[in-house]
Amino acid sequence: MCFSLSGFRKAADMAAAAAVLFLAVVTCPAVFGNVVSVKRSFSIDYKNSCFLKDGKPFQYISGSIHYSRIPRYYWKDRLMKMYMTGLNTIQVYVPWNFHEPVQGVHNFTGDRDLEHFLGLANQMGLLVILRPGPYICAEWEMGGLPAWLLQKPNIILRSTDTDYMQAVSNWLSVLLPKMKRWLYINGGNIISVQVENEYGSYFACDYNYMRHLRALFRFFLGEDIILFTTDGNTDKEMICGTLDGLYATIDFGTDTNISEAFKRQRRFEPNGPLVNSEFYTGWLDHWGDRHAVVDAQKVSRMLGEMLTMGANVNMYMFEGGTNFGYWNGADHDSRFRSVVTSYDYDAPLTEAGDPTEKLLAIRDVISQFGKVPSGPMPPATPKFAYGFVTLKKVGNVSSLLDVISPLGPVKSEYPLTFEEVKQYYGYMLYRTTLPQDLSEPTPLISPLNGVHDRAYVSVNGVFQGLLQRDTALVMNVTGHQGDTVDILVENMGRVNFGSKINDYKGLVGTLVLGKDLLTNWQIYPLDIDGAIAGGWPHSHSQKSSPPREPSAGPSFYTGTLPPNGLARDTFLRLNEWTKGQVWINGVNLGRYWPARGPQQTLYVPGPVLSTNLPNNITVLELEGAPTHLRVLFMDRPQISNATGKS
Ligand SMILES: *[C@@H]1O[C@H](CO)[C@@H](O)[C@H](O)[C@H]1NC(C)=O
Ligand SMILES: *[C@@H]1O[C@H](CO)[C@@H](O)[C@H](O)[C@H]1NC(C)=O
Ligand SMILES: *[C@@H]1O[C@H](CO)[C@@H](O)[C@H](O)[C@H]1NC(C)=O
Ligand SMILES: *[C@@H]1O[C@H](CO)[C@@H](O)[C@H](O)[C@H]1NC(C)=O
Ligand SMILES: *[C@@H]1O[C@H](CO)[C@@H](O)[C@H](O)[C@H]1NC(C)=O
Ligand SMILES: *[C@@H]1O[C@H](CO)[C@@H](O)[C@H](O)[C@H]1NC(C)=O
Repeated sequence: MCFSLSGFRKAADMAAAAAVLFLAVVTCPAVFGNVVSVKRSFSIDYKNSCFLKDGKPFQYISGSIHYSRIPRYYWKDRLMKMYMTGLNTIQVYVPWNFHEPVQGVHNFTGDRDLEHFLGLANQMGLLVILRPGPYICAEWEMGGLPAWLLQKPNIILRSTDTDYMQAVSNWLSVLLPKMKRWLYINGGNIISVQVENEYGSYFACDYNYMRHLRALFRFFLGEDIILFTTDGNTDKEMICGTLDGLYATIDFGTDTNISEAFKRQRRFEPNGPLVNSEFYTGWLDHWGDRHAVVDAQKVSRMLGEMLTMGANVNMYMFEGGTNFGYWNGADHDSRFRSVVTSYDYDAPLTEAGDPTEKLLAIRDVISQFGKVPSGPMPPATPKFAYGFVTLKKVGNVSSLLDVISPLGPVKSEYPLTFEEVKQYYGYMLYRTTLPQDLSEPTPLISPLNGVHDRAYVSVNGVFQGLLQRDTALVMNVTGHQGDTVDILVENMGRVNFGSKINDYKGLVGTLVLGKDLLTNWQIYPLDIDGAIAGGWPHSHSQKSSPPREPSAGPSFYTGTLPPNGLARDTFLRLNEWTKGQVWINGVNLGRYWPARGPQQTLYVPGPVLSTNLPNNITVLELEGAPTHLRVLFMDRPQISNATGKS
């Protein structure tokens, strides 16, 4: 009943047979009680090249969804829409750094309650392909690895490095036992578990590392669960990423020849089901890049072709969501490029979880292979245009250190990294003094390209300009001997892919001013999120509005959106603001950078807003606010053509 490439030429016969297979197997979602039945099994039929669920051939049609990018309140809504599209399975990454923010301290509550998410999917009748890493890429900060791993200098991540492996074992010994009862064979909905992620694209190619992981996964999950790998569509990647005992799958998008790609998978798995673990429905955006779009017709047509072949397909992404807070990742190929806040991905469900034409086209295709659930597709959630709010300035970062850096500075001859100060995300302030009079503009240089990632420089409270990793290694400074130099350094998200994932942040190299090496630093860790969680700045009555200052340089602004009885999804536009970070009611909505684009608005999930209390908005603007100081709540997102520079 299942297909291999040898039969692929008879496409018409296969289409008919696939339809029969589908009707026979996937006419309705299975009913999953939590009752363990001896009949529950999920395995690979190598003879017939397919998956077997409870002994019967099974083909999955799956979509990726990341609970870490969606507020818990909306998990059920998104899963329902995926179910209504006709998917029988979802694919889920587990970001290690989301759950173990401090080494040895784990968080599985609230928006991080993975088991609650699995339970909702289970109630909906959705099976789960679990991808617990430990590395996940996902365009997520450091590919899901906790930044505290970088405390050990020269740690070789994703290898048998002793400290890395010890941390991995500790983490998996917490996570995997929780997952065990969710395995399909144990009464839950997890049908297979991916080991590592596209390991073949990493330089290390360390088979012992993969063997260690295989042993750990087997130890905690048992012998019966399907373990698999996913790799890009090249021989090199498949060679370094695959391992005996881990079923080898492949990933590719609409620019790829399907039969060529599955032929490659066949070279590594001569028998067994065809699997595209990441069929790209869209793509990510970086700041400064043109917005990525993938054609809906191409996606749905190729999906149909793969399903016709009997292949198992996971669409990456089906629902992308948002990089809230500091969770976006970055790439570093020719230069450092950080991922935008929205992870909309041009996916079938938008960032705000709304069905698109692409979703309807996909549902049409799926309906040719089997019954999709009857009933209407749940509509888009209602949006609301709350309109303009005018903010006022609270003060600049330098003048607010007593509030946002309660621990005060760490003193050091040379700059320390974020990791050395144990502040892993956000912003830190580096302070020193001018070693001599500079009446002429004097170059401030980052000789080792050591600004990770962007530094905002002021002298005695006057903003002088910025340095940026890879692209702006020198700027001019003037001032007098003894003047205070404040350098606010922004961590724009750690590299999530490739060989440069040991991405230390802050001033990772010294700075030179004219001919002087700058020394004698006071380094202020900044807990902005902590201050805002404590009610600042709204709870602090302003004695008098701060003096009129030049508006350039990193500063805080606040305002309130009056409640109007509605807590609806909305989109925040910071027109003519430059670059920064926004919080509403203590929720860190992420970074904005309209001057760079393409993203122009931030998604504000309705549940963040209060129906009856003033909604407290806080903005950290890093470069320059507009004189109007207005922000706008709109009922739709906006995307621009990026400037093309970055
Ligand atoms: C755990 O994560 C949730 C969701 O982000 C958060 O609300 C909660 O404060 C965290 N718990 C701790 C102890 O940090
Ligand atoms: C894919 O490649 C095969 C050769 O392996 C070729 O026959 C076929 O026409 C190609 N398909 C497309 C859509 O280009
Ligand atoms: C920061 O605020 C302080 C106190 O209001 C002021 O003296 C200083 O000039 C300001 N600096 C900038 C860069 O605006
Ligand atoms: C710094 O100032 C000098 C002299 O005014 C000027 O030639 C140079 O272009 C400036 N450099 C930068 C990076 O602004
Ligand atoms: C906003 O801040 C004010 C002042 O601290 C507080 O009374 C109010 O409850 C806050 N609003 C919300 C939605 O928490
Ligand atoms: C963006 O640029 C492309 C190519 O220059 C153009 O076709 C398109 O209309 C532009 N879109 C917007 C929204 O300006």
